[in-house]
Amino acid sequence: MGPKQIKAKIISNKIFRDNYWHLELESKAIAGCAVPGQFVNIKVSDGIEPLLRRPLSIHGIEGSRVRFFYEALGPGTRLLSGRNPGEFLDVIGPLGNGFVVPGKAKAARLKVPVLVAGGMGVAPLIFLAKEIRSSKPLVLIGARTKSKILCAQEFKALGCAVKIATDDGSSGFKGRVTELLGQVLRQDAPGCARRLAIYACGPRPMLKAVAGIACENDIDSRLSLEEHMACGIGACLGCVIATKSGYKKVCKDGPVFSGKELTW
Ligand SMILES: Cc1cc2nc3c(=O)[nH]c(=O)nc-3n(C[C@H](O)[C@H](O)[C@H](O)COP(=O)(O)OP(=O)(O)OC[C@H]3O[C@@H](n4cnc5c(N)ncnc54)[C@H](O)[C@@H]3O)c2cc1C
Ligand code: FES
Repeated sequence: MGPKQIKAKIISNKIFRDNYWHLELESKAIAGCAVPGQFVNIKVSDGIEPLLRRPLSIHGIEGSRVRFFYEALGPGTRLLSGRNPGEFLDVIGPLGNGFVVPGKAKAARLKVPVLVAGGMGVAPLIFLAKEIRSSKPLVLIGARTKSKILCAQEFKALGCAVKIATDDGSSGFKGRVTELLGQVLRQDAPGCARRLAIYACGPRPMLKAVAGIACENDIDSRLSLEEHMACGIGACLGCVIATKSGYKKVCKDGPVFSGKELTW
């Protein structure tokens, strides 16, 4: 089923901590067909400003409700944080391809999933972890410092093993989450890298490093890119990237790509 433009009622829009917010919308149409890694494009205000919609990953589905986890960073997301329960948001979704291509879902389930999240990259990975929790995912979460670690408890509550990396060493491994990934492959999974599948979302330099590690170790990787977007439906070419198989639209052909496909 393709994306729909709908008016979705805000069920709740609550601050979690610092600038991080949880948003819950009522939408049977999206909840009924969304898969992990897909996103929606939200018109954050009823006025003409800002002109462009803001993309947010689907963080979870509960019945007919769709959850999002976002950081109020700039004008668009700050306006969104001011929207109240009972109001309606103009939303297009679900958009994009998602982490697991439907025909390959069975093959993916046979692998041990390693989820690598940097910063807000946790947002779509929680939805994925819930869907594939029977495969006992290992989750690696990277943050600058302890207070910036997101969703560790939520991943644990889903039965995932969680390892933390902080740049300043205030929690877990001291260093980048990609260095932690390298350590995990050397120490915990020597010789069985091919049985792993990596799913990652986070800043571009992190994804590039994850792709490099995955390729070196011959591991399948699915990486969710966060390009700046306009239409979100493949019409404006505002999010085009070069890949080994030509130019691709992140909003339509992605946001999830195989690490082997990307040229950086
Ligand atoms: C497919 C996709 C899924 C996303 N999912 C989430 C999510 O679940 N939670 C969340 O908090 N954010 C998510 N983002 C990023 C979010 O869309 C941007 O933070 C938001 O659009 C910023 O709008 P703004 O007006 O608040 O800030 P702006 O003033 O537009 O930007 C503030 C800062 O965010 C950066 N930024 C703007 N747009 C993007 C973007 N598309 N990707 C990365 N950085 C951006 C800008 O460079 C700037 O540094 C996602 C982006 C994409 C493309
Ligand atoms: S955002 Fe318009 S084509 Fe991707």
